[in-house]
Amino acid sequence: MRINKYLAGCGVASRRKCEEYILQGRIAVNGNLVTELATEVNEHKDKVTMDGKLLSYENEAVYYMLNKPKGVISAANSRYGEKTVVDLIEDEENRIYPIGRLDKDTTGLIFLTNDGSLAYKLTHPRFEREKVYEAIIKGKIDIDDINKLKKGIMSEDEKLVASNVRLVKMIKGNSLVHITLREGKKRQVRRMCRAIGHPVVELKRISEGGIELGNLEEGQYRKLTRNEVRKLLTGK
Ligand code: URA
Repeated sequence: MRINKYLAGCGVASRRKCEEYILQGRIAVNGNLVTELATEVNEHKDKVTMDGKLLSYENEAVYYMLNKPKGVISAANSRYGEKTVVDLIEDEENRIYPIGRLDKDTTGLIFLTNDGSLAYKLTHPRFEREKVYEAIIKGKIDIDDINKLKKGIMSEDEKLVASNVRLVKMIKGNSLVHITLREGKKRQVRRMCRAIGHPVVELKRISEGGIELGNLEEGQYRKLTRNEVRKLLTGK
């Protein structure tokens, strides 16, 4: 079959996007770089790699959760040589990528997979799952602030709404809050807290789609259990 069809079948990207990868010289067949779009691949015999990673047509889906440390970017590749979340997963043969994003300076729960359909589902606004963030924010948040976040605040012409906000405790004059979102707009928690005059000091995602980060240390990861994968796929 045509190489772009093969690559798309491995879950790399759309056929058109795969053609770009071929032209960029990122794809090799049996150890030889190919840049010819008409290249044919035998899915039973040929060994195809992308950026040196072996692809598999009958892809076994893999699912991880990682506690992302600060300073690591949530992308599969880095343009400027920064460490990525994918770099932290050792000994993974499949080409995996993060589902959704956390800012470079945010820590906490992020999923990684090679399952394109799950990635699509979880990042599409229609299927958006609940995410809970633990934030330390400057000063003491009061009930009026909490109501503002729940009602929605305007930031850069966008309405940003929290579905729940709970003050957990005070730490040295700052508030430790749990903020639940059902939407995933850029730097949403930081923008919302800044808008009510309590900028974020520390931010960590502690749960997504009902799956908890638990006591995984920063930089550590584990495979999701079958039940967790089912929960992510079906929402139940
Ligand atoms: N909200 C933010 O501000 N940053 C994140 O990384 C996630 C949610």
